[in-house]
Amino acid sequence: FSHHHFNSKINNHNDGITYLDHAGATLYPESLVRDFCSDISRNIYGNPHSHNPSSRLTHDTMEGVRFRVLQHFNAPPEEYSVIFTSGCTAALKLVAESFPWRPQVEGAAGSHFCYLTDCHTSVVGMRGLTSGWGVVTLPVIPQEVESRAKDVAEGEDVTCQTPHLFCYPAQSNFSGRKYPLSHVRGIQARRLYPACELRGRWLVLLDAASHVSCSPLNLQDCPADFIPISFYKMFGFPTGLGALLVRNDAAGILKKTYFGGGTAAAYLSGEHYYVHSANISDRFEDGTVSFLDIIALNHSFDALYKITGGMHNIQQHTFGLARYTYMLLSSLCHGNGRPVARIYTEGQFESPSTQGAILNFNLMDSRGQIIGYSQVDRMAGLYNIHVRTGCFCNTGACQSFLGITNQQMKRNLQAGHVCGDSIDLVDGQPTGSVRVSFGYMSTFEDCQRFLNFVAECFVEKPVTVDQLMMQKLKTAASNGSNQNLTIKIPNGEICKVVEEKPTEASLRGFGRRDSNSQREAYKLTNIYIYPIKSCAAYEVHDWLLGPLGLLYDRGWMVVNENGVCLSQKREPRLCLIQFFFLSHCPAGMDTISVPLENNIQKHPSHRVCQSKVCGDRVETVDCGDEAASWLSDFLGQPCRLIRQSSNFTRDMKKRPATSMPLSLVNEAQYLMISRASVEQDYSEGDQLLDTQNVISRFRANLVITGVEPFEEDNWSHLIIGNTQFVVAGQCGRCQMVGVDQETGTKTKEPLLSLSASRGGKVTFGVYLTCQLPKDSPTASVLSVGSVIKPESEGP
Ligand SMILES: *Cc1c(COP(=O)(O)O)cnc(C)c1O
Ligand SMILES: *[C@@H]1O[C@H](CO)[C@@H](O)[C@H](O)[C@H]1NC(C)=O
Ligand SMILES: *[C@@H]1O[C@H](CO)[C@@H](O)[C@H](O)[C@H]1NC(C)=O
Ligand SMILES: *[C@@H]1O[C@H](CO)[C@@H](O)[C@H](O)[C@H]1NC(C)=O
Ligand SMILES: *[C@@H]1O[C@H](CO)[C@@H](O)[C@H](O)[C@H]1NC(C)=O
Ligand SMILES: *[C@@H]1O[C@H](CO)[C@@H](O)[C@H](O)[C@H]1NC(C)=O
Ligand SMILES: *[C@@H]1O[C@H](CO)[C@@H](O)[C@H](O)[C@H]1NC(C)=O
Repeated sequence: FSHHHFNSKINNHNDGITYLDHAGATLYPESLVRDFCSDISRNIYGNPHSHNPSSRLTHDTMEGVRFRVLQHFNAPPEEYSVIFTSGCTAALKLVAESFPWRPQVEGAAGSHFCYLTDCHTSVVGMRGLTSGWGVVTLPVIPQEVESRAKDVAEGEDVTCQTPHLFCYPAQSNFSGRKYPLSHVRGIQARRLYPACELRGRWLVLLDAASHVSCSPLNLQDCPADFIPISFYKMFGFPTGLGALLVRNDAAGILKKTYFGGGTAAAYLSGEHYYVHSANISDRFEDGTVSFLDIIALNHSFDALYKITGGMHNIQQHTFGLARYTYMLLSSLCHGNGRPVARIYTEGQFESPSTQGAILNFNLMDSRGQIIGYSQVDRMAGLYNIHVRTGCFCNTGACQSFLGITNQQMKRNLQAGHVCGDSIDLVDGQPTGSVRVSFGYMSTFEDCQRFLNFVAECFVEKPVTVDQLMMQKLKTAASNGSNQNLTIKIPNGEICKVVEEKPTEASLRGFGRRDSNSQREAYKLTNIYIYPIKSCAAYEVHDWLLGPLGLLYDRGWMVVNENGVCLSQKREPRLCLIQFFFLSHCPAGMDTISVPLENNIQKHPSHRVCQSKVCGDRVETVDCGDEAASWLSDFLGQPCRLIRQSSNFTRDMKKRPATSMPLSLVNEAQYLMISRASVEQDYSEGDQLLDTQNVISRFRANLVITGVEPFEEDNWSHLIIGNTQFVVAGQCGRCQMVGVDQETGTKTKEPLLSLSASRGGKVTFGVYLTCQLPKDSPTASVLSVGSVIKPESEGP
């Protein structure tokens, strides 16, 4: 049983797999499997039905796990019991078999079995049992629950105890739509349809299998009677284990027909005599439960809480990723302006209370024709992106979103299409769709890989994710749409997820150079922007040039209470502060949003103030108290976030060489370094700093492949792609390059080696300026891979 990262390997992008089917089954962390292995190697767990010490150990451990399951859902043991099953489907079947259905008999209304049409196959399948017993089946369209609600007439007979069952999914496993948890009380109290139309006792089955994988569920708020779940959807491991959480008073009315080992208080084998166990869990767990899997569950809970800090963090993180993907995918267009994706969703990913971390869609070609999901699946396979395609065992949702009628459904079957096959189009109409879904270990890079794949394979005029984002940011910059820069600091628990993951270097794949191209002379290999001066880099593949440099580069800075700029020299931890455009993380404990637009009228709390950058006076706008106190908490000293006033131009008289308008940067619009120079210096250092680590310390905007170390020092002009730059001098270096940009710790390298090898001349990299054409001040785009044509100073 090799415990060497077998599952966590999937997370490792070095292996190239992008796993986006967490709603099918999520991934398990390596530590969980390791801890479980060591537990069962250390202890002997016997059959829980025996009474020897190893059996006791099993029993007691299982008791602890039962309690933990209840605790996770905030369900007190006095109100709820846990019945372990082999999965959600088995739990549903258990309810169907033991519910005290009353058949309809002449005139007297019998029990009703009601379910939302968006229910999972496993719920609809209960019909197979109930209809045989004469129970009325009533499918309910999601909108009807509230639209057909009415007050129950006063004085109605309350003695009617005919039991009815209403089933609905907390979250659709098709679209990720979340249905109101308030339906539970609404149905139980007969305020909502269909309960308001039928007398009797209404019980609610909340299918939480999909919901609980990324969201908290509090049973004090929605006291459903039956809650079936599967644990692999929450933890990835163990599989083959689920549970039915049942309200103790609802369990009282369940019938026991079949009886298996462990369920009886007493029975006779020669006579029809059986008295079930008084204990609910014992009564319904036929035979020996999968006790080692239940023990594994304890480790699953441990790992989940340790890595993420809890379900609220998971919900926030995964919803942020889904929302980001939704925003970019929905704005992706072909060259002719036609959209690339038709996304099946009710809302617009406004809130994690109505939408889970699932995105369901079909792709279209430039004529608007649907591209079959099998085609998408095959291509995704080539890119090692794992998605789910088909109808997801949820015909109801599939029909309603795709607009397939019952007749068409039957025609499709005649055309040879059965569930799970690869006939994805019948007469040009889709028979299913594509689903991507996220888990707590998913990353922003997973979203980008997926979006790049769609752009490369299915968009007529291919665009990159950054081009798409630039378009959005450009409109945000010019007319002030409601876009934000989201800033993230590593005090949120979710950031620990990253620590269990591959290193920064392997995640950086999306801007990765292919090693053959390094041989070629002079290419642009990386573009970095630093939205907040002295804070972390934001790497992009394509980016817009603005009048002050790369769009948003050094647009903001952090100052102390006296308005003095903070740099990494005094506060190395600034490098741990990260950003995201298009707020891929919703604001929460570890993130904050500041508006991208620079309009003081719209943000009255932002006031004009003065500051200095390298001796130049700059007029700035304070970004408000919220950002200030958030940053002060992290840095442990009073500080504020400011940005340059939109109508202010820095007086550059002191710097005639670079007399171009500047952002809050120190010296010049752009800083460029060459890999050849980095490799040179690094080989002289006695510390093992890898090239990427050294590159990040020099905080350049542009990184190029060079031929000779430091030859760029002799250049006077260069052209990158189609844009012309002037070399405006060399960049002097100080101890700031000693700050490791991944950890915020300081080392003497690479300054020591640099100083030695350069004969005391400690410069590294060159400053560039760029004069953009006046008529289109942001027309130029820089892209990774562009060829560079340098010109040296004539002799
Ligand atoms: C996955 C799922 C099920 C079925 O769970 P199994 O583990 O296959 O038994 C039922 N309902 C929903 C909403 C699901 O997501
Ligand atoms: C389950 O996990 C908890 C928390 O780590 C631990 O305290 C407890 O001992 C574990 N239970 C068993 C029976 O292993
Ligand atoms: C029933 O038994 C289970 C398992 O033995 C135990 O955890 C639970 O507390 C018991 N429930 C009641 C109501 O006694
Ligand atoms: C911003 O400009 C774009 C294109 O010019 C326009 O479509 C959009 O409606 C504008 N948004 C706002 C908020 O004015
Ligand atoms: C931007 O941030 C503000 C304040 O946090 C928030 O109200 C708004 O919804 C955010 N906008 C977007 C597009 O996320
Ligand atoms: C623009 O400049 C004027 C003064 O010149 C100032 O009052 C105003 O607040 C500035 N606007 C912004 C957005 O900074
Ligand atoms: C730069 O130019 C100087 C003077 O012409 C020359 O000595 C030096 O070798 C050149 N450096 C590189 C790296 O080409």
